[in-house]
Amino acid sequence: MTKEMIGRVAVVTGASSGLGRGIAQALAAAGAKTVLAARRTEMLEEVVAGIRDAGGIALAETTDVTREEEVCRLFKNVREACGRVDVLVNNAGVAAHMPIEDITLKYWQEVLDVNLTAAFLCSREAIRIMKDQVPQGGRIINIGSVSAKTPRPDSLPYTATKFALHGMTHQLTMDGRKYGVVASIVHPGATLSSFSTRRGRTKAGPGTAPEDYIMAAEDVASVVVLMCSLPPEVNLYEATILPNHMRSFIGRG
Ligand SMILES: NC(=O)c1ccc[n+]([C@@H]2O[C@H](COP(=O)([O-])OP(=O)(O)OC[C@H]3O[C@@H](n4cnc5c(N)ncnc54)[C@H](OP(=O)(O)O)[C@@H]3O)[C@@H](O)[C@H]2O)c1
Repeated sequence: MTKEMIGRVAVVTGASSGLGRGIAQALAAAGAKTVLAARRTEMLEEVVAGIRDAGGIALAETTDVTREEEVCRLFKNVREACGRVDVLVNNAGVAAHMPIEDITLKYWQEVLDVNLTAAFLCSREAIRIMKDQVPQGGRIINIGSVSAKTPRPDSLPYTATKFALHGMTHQLTMDGRKYGVVASIVHPGATLSSFSTRRGRTKAGPGTAPEDYIMAAEDVASVVVLMCSLPPEVNLYEATILPNHMRSFIGRG
């Protein structure tokens, strides 16, 4: 792999498992000083150890990204330890599937807190640093979902947050221009993670039928690295990456 990220600092939320773990590993492999944020310290430390063993630079920051004071502390620590923030990947998220009539306000708010409010809090703190640093600017990459285009049944809070992340990306792109901040969104389809292991899939790749193929976190991570590798004047604004046979997204009958 080329080292296009050398000297750059990347923060990845939800980096203790699944897509976030793969994205953090790929950014570190591309040379970025990578800060991994999530709640489970032990799992973060395990990913960090793997990155360091492979010759990368990484540090773990135990953070509940729904808590404003913890997000502020995360970015303060990053600024102190690394001096700047070049990339923020808003990846932390929870799956939420429930018929609308059973959704309590508490559940709705919990999903919004992780999938949407956390992305706002992290983006705000990152932009405060990106605006002040020299050279100015950076990239914010939001992890959306194909659910922002073709929702699953019984997924109201999840779908609403993923559509909202798209709006947030649009707004960040416009408002970030004056500070050299570039925002993009990646919409993954079925990818191996704790979302899928809970459904019995423990390996990426083919299943019993062509439509059962499930991507690896590395597949999504390669799009994130590509977005980060472009010149700061260029934005790969939106990317949908999915198993080619994913009929629930493209197809009928
Ligand atoms: N897997 C797919 O097929 C798929 C498809 C489309 C989109 N996505 C999106 O990909 C993203 C990652 O999900 P995943 O599939 O990789 O699932 P995952 O393996 O369950 O990972 C979710 C990550 O989010 C973190 N997280 C959850 N709540 C948090 C909080 N309050 N504070 C900090 N971190 C928190 C978890 O870490 P801790 O528990 O350690 O805090 C974990 O690292 C999500 O935004 C999801 O919507 C996934």
